[in-house]
Amino acid sequence: MINPRVFVSRKIFPEALELLSQVAEVDVWPDELPPNPQELGNKIANADGLLTTIMDRIDASILDRAPRLKVISQLAVGLDNVDVEEASRRGILVGFTPGILSKATADVGFALLLSAARRIGESERWVRAGGWEMSFHPMYWLGAEVNGATLGIVGLGQIGLEMAKRGLGFDMRVIYHSRTRKPELEEKYGLEYVPPQELLSESDFVSLHIPLTPETRHFISEPELRMMKPTAILINLARGPVVDPKALYTALSEKWIQAAALDVTDPEPIPPDDPLLTLDNLVITPHIGSASVSTRREMCMVAARNLAAGIRGEKMEHCANPEIYPSKGL
Ligand code: NAP
Ligand code: GLV
Repeated sequence: MINPRVFVSRKIFPEALELLSQVAEVDVWPDELPPNPQELGNKIANADGLLTTIMDRIDASILDRAPRLKVISQLAVGLDNVDVEEASRRGILVGFTPGILSKATADVGFALLLSAARRIGESERWVRAGGWEMSFHPMYWLGAEVNGATLGIVGLGQIGLEMAKRGLGFDMRVIYHSRTRKPELEEKYGLEYVPPQELLSESDFVSLHIPLTPETRHFISEPELRMMKPTAILINLARGPVVDPKALYTALSEKWIQAAALDVTDPEPIPPDDPLLTLDNLVITPHIGSASVSTRREMCMVAARNLAAGIRGEKMEHCANPEIYPSKGL
């Protein structure tokens, strides 16, 4: 009998590869840059399983190249790069890694919030450029107070809730808007539900934690930025296209809002000549939300276990399309 084959589209922790090698022949993409669609198609032509990341677009055209594929395991919680419905139509299980990365990701969210509020990146660049000529000045480098300010969470899911908890730890008032109202979390944490317009106009910090869907693309564009306070700070830790980058550039350069902090951009990676990078009131990190050693290791292990379970014909720890389990006798 031929051993099952899996393709892993990026280098991952060796212990996760070791786990996979117990159930299948494992082929790992060796380069730093991801495979292009042609290369990915070639690699999965005979594969039973695919371990993928957010940089691989998994749509009908790529799935046409993979007639044997039974399982896709995404090394992420966000699935906007995977056409899950199309996978379901073809009877392909899709795994993902929710929950385990929420705390690490919210840590970066709060680091971005603090950096933008207290101008950490901007003042550090100033020191390194030799600008620090006197030890202290009462009027230099004034930033926004975080303590007591209002934090507006858009998307009260697993990461949004962790971000809210961090805000509460800094004695912030936390308001939220989400698709579904969550009375039990309001009660437990003292969170206040508000409509989106009220969230935008009342928040000192607006923090985005919604998935990228056709509905949430450009959730923040010119009208929303104009609703925000001139002192407000926008944090995007979700996906780049949730914010219209052109509108954001105008809002930051014309000071409709005070600052923004981005861990995600559109396009991603952001080109070095993107006008946003010329702005001092922008803090930016390269999509590092979940990038702590222990969280990334755990994500790799969960993604490997999801893939192994799919290959063995078992239920996964985290499946994005469990509705197709019955069609597989599960
Ligand atoms: P989650 O638990 O599913 O939370 C997403 C929340 O957004 C849910 O509460 C959801 O609905 C709400 N929502 C969905 N559509 C909405 C809409 N149109 N309007 C308002 N609320 C809406 O997911 P998560 O684990 O928190 O992750 C959220 C996103 O963060 C991911 O999809 C991914 O794109 C991004 N992410 C980024 C990084 C990074 O490194 N920067 C790391 C991990 C994840 P309900 O209100 O119905 O619950
Ligand atoms: C990372 O962006 C994720 O969705 O896990």
